[in-house]
Amino acid sequence: MKFLNKVVLVTGAAGGIGLAIAKRFYIEGAKVVLIDIDEDELQSAKNTLAALQEGALMIQRCDVSNETEVQQVVIESIKKFGSIDVIVNNAGLMIFKKLEEHTTRDWNKILNVDLMGAFYFTKFAFLNMEHGGCIINISSIHAIETTPMVASYAAAKAALVSFTRSSAIEGNSKRIRVNAILPGAIDTPMLWDNPNIKAGLEQINKDSVGKPDDIAGVALFLASDDAAFVQGTYIEVDGGRLSRL
Ligand SMILES: NC(=O)c1ccc[n+]([C@@H]2O[C@H](COP(=O)([O-])OP(=O)(O)OC[C@H]3O[C@@H](n4cnc5c(N)ncnc54)[C@H](O)[C@@H]3O)[C@@H](O)[C@H]2O)c1
Repeated sequence: MKFLNKVVLVTGAAGGIGLAIAKRFYIEGAKVVLIDIDEDELQSAKNTLAALQEGALMIQRCDVSNETEVQQVVIESIKKFGSIDVIVNNAGLMIFKKLEEHTTRDWNKILNVDLMGAFYFTKFAFLNMEHGGCIINISSIHAIETTPMVASYAAAKAALVSFTRSSAIEGNSKRIRVNAILPGAIDTPMLWDNPNIKAGLEQINKDSVGKPDDIAGVALFLASDDAAFVQGTYIEVDGGRLSRL
């Protein structure tokens, strides 16, 4: 078990990519804190994992865009498990609107969840990861290539890559490594609910869609000692789809 007794916090862990990441860490022996805004789905995610094997699990309902709630999750996690070794900032949202229809409220909503949520967890990690650790930010391929209708999301995910770089520079002296994953099209409801895909504005060949587990494997690599010298960078995980002319 590669992560035996490591304490791993995963946001947006009630389903999709977050649940797949939480599951892989749990199978590898980690004590896992599942964090999400959706309390019912969180409980069923916990039941799913608990049915796999005996282990340490905790669920925390939290809106990652609320600094006080994030601080409370960090406090509760340390109270229960003693420390924090890994944080995966995965919770995310998209809004599909033409640029000229975006409101200030839309921008604030997306930036607060997709960017500030990672900032709050990183801030409290820096204040509490006394023995070093690892932070993984789930950005998106939209950070570097994008489509119409998702300006706020693409900007938030690009800013998350920049924030990853800054966090790594400041994390070095604390022995905290910070890296990002840029998933391409991954088979979750977020993908198939995308109006651009439904309308055919973005063409996705079903063969080039990844599984949540494809992202989980990379997250475990980044959190492992094999990635000890990987700092402040990102890994695109899109099956090579966007490299093709
Ligand atoms: N699925 C894809 O194709 C894809 C591609 C690139 C990036 N991503 C990114 O991967 C991450 C996970 O996406 P997914 O496809 O699993 O989506 P999903 O919608 O299945 O999961 C997102 C989770 O985040 C939670 N969440 C939303 N707002 C929250 C908040 N304020 N506080 C706490 N939790 C909140 C939701 O309840 C949900 O459980 C997101 O950051 C997304 O942007 C997904």
